Amino acid sequence: MCGIIGFIGDENATPIILKGLRRMEYRGYDSAGLSIRTNEGLRVIKSVGKVNDLANVQDLKAISGYTGLGHTRWATHGKVNLENAHPLSSCAGEMSVVHNGIISNFQTLKKELEKEGHTFKSSTDSEVIIHLFEKYFENGKGIKDALLKTVNRLEGSFAFAIMLRDEENIVGARCGTPLILGIGKSGSFLTSDILGFIEFTDKAIFLENKEIVVLGKHQFEISDFEGNLVAKEVTQVAWEFGTPTKEKYSHFTLKEILEQPRALERVLSQDQEQVDLFCKKLKTMAKVVITGSGTSYHAGLYAKYIMRDKAKISCDVVVSSEFNSQDVDHDTSVLVLSQSGETADALRATQIAKDAGCQVLSIVNVVGSSLARESDISLPLKCGPEVGVAATKSFTSQLALIYLIASRMGIGDDNMLASIPQKVESVLREAERIEKMVSGYTEARDFYYIARSIHISIALEGALKMKELSYIHAEGMAAGELKHGPLALITQGTPVVVINPTDDTYQETLDNALELKARGAKVIGISTVSNEVYDDFIPIPKVHPSLSPIIEVVPLQLIAYYAAVKMGQDPDYPRNLAKSVTVN
Ligand code: F6R
Repeated sequence: MCGIIGFIGDENATPIILKGLRRMEYRGYDSAGLSIRTNEGLRVIKSVGKVNDLANVQDLKAISGYTGLGHTRWATHGKVNLENAHPLSSCAGEMSVVHNGIISNFQTLKKELEKEGHTFKSSTDSEVIIHLFEKYFENGKGIKDALLKTVNRLEGSFAFAIMLRDEENIVGARCGTPLILGIGKSGSFLTSDILGFIEFTDKAIFLENKEIVVLGKHQFEISDFEGNLVAKEVTQVAWEFGTPTKEKYSHFTLKEILEQPRALERVLSQDQEQVDLFCKKLKTMAKVVITGSGTSYHAGLYAKYIMRDKAKISCDVVVSSEFNSQDVDHDTSVLVLSQSGETADALRATQIAKDAGCQVLSIVNVVGSSLARESDISLPLKCGPEVGVAATKSFTSQLALIYLIASRMGIGDDNMLASIPQKVESVLREAERIEKMVSGYTEARDFYYIARSIHISIALEGALKMKELSYIHAEGMAAGELKHGPLALITQGTPVVVINPTDDTYQETLDNALELKARGAKVIGISTVSNEVYDDFIPIPKVHPSLSPIIEVVPLQLIAYYAAVKMGQDPDYPRNLAKSVTVN
């Protein structure tokens, strides 16, 4: 949930680390900090807030050194304040650590270390790492020995990097959360994400779980937690995935919503052989269980309708945080959906599936992510970095790829997909109208979204976008459920978004819209045809009902985005959230 970076090289580490932190800010933006190895010792500078706040700290410009660590935090243990911001230091201040993950046995370790005379300055779980390392380093057996002793005492999930005043090298370890080595011409990197170093090098080495690294300027040594050396391959990562800028747009979120037509074109240009292999694997098992979190779970709901109703595959969908061994057996294929490929709940579900002997198939955006690497087969979303915390282009890409897979399994026509980017383009042309419309709803305290059948996934997704971006309470539901309780919430002026394409769900959903209107709701219709029941209407083009969700969600993303902007929220960095949720 946090972003960590270490750099050791021939150039001033301060600006390099700041750049890396800016790119990894999506991982957490409660506080940020860096530690630089200078001639006067380790200089640690931290600030509460975003990386920009750190960059504006007066002293920072004057600090230079060739080795450094940086951190951008999403708080789990301990309040958001300077003491708890990373890097965290050893008792004597001669060592610094940056950590991502959770050390679950930190209380026991802290008590032990305090008894031995260590003084803690923060209320984080992470601080035990640096005190443990300090304790073992005092044995005088060197940094690798101290690192091995440290990692073997830690429980939980972690990726961390440590830097010392009196040692050339940086050390790092990975157990459960990502850590990637970047091998550049002017130095080496250790980061949570390729984005942390992509501007400087495209050569990456992915550490596996339970591996440590001792990193020099131009050399490295990777071992397992027993200390045995491990040979690794260098992966060349694609440059085009590494240059996310807002360009002319005010927010990444808007840019990413607007670039969906291009993203959809890219996701459809899959390697045919891989898609065929994927489909073959999916078909061989008696049952498919789909899992994912948040928006990816909503894509899973869509997939369930497509696979179950069209392909007649016995299919279920389970939200990853609730996935357990009862959901699968050995003749199940598990399909895991994730933009980041690092979501802890999705990775836990993957492990449960693997332990049960299931084959794991995944659809992932981030190349080289843990999920992609742990799956039997994985297809890429190819939508480029999604920096806005709210998933937008990754969602429509997930839906398009799911449909492509389904149609290759013989249950649809993938030719129909070809026109989807252009249809999405036509909805995006409504952006200005949607923006104006949203101005009429910023006083609303609640928003409801209703739909039927395969479109329910979009009602849920529309509501999720609204709550996370604008902080307005929102609920998505099956239209037929209104009469079983939620209708009681409808009062004069309550906005309800009715997703109502002209398929076999049309008439019943329209009837629900009329019921809502009779009870005072302000009905916002998303449909291929207008109707007088709608107070506001956003037209969408008519496409096959199974493809319509890809189109329907676009106006809902825009509604949520403009609501956030009009209410003064920063849609790129919603409060309390982070892009990849690497804790359970
Ligand atoms: C919502 C959102 C989250 C993610 C969820 C899963 O806009 O972004 O709900 O969808 O945290 O993330 P991934 O897909 O990376 O596993």
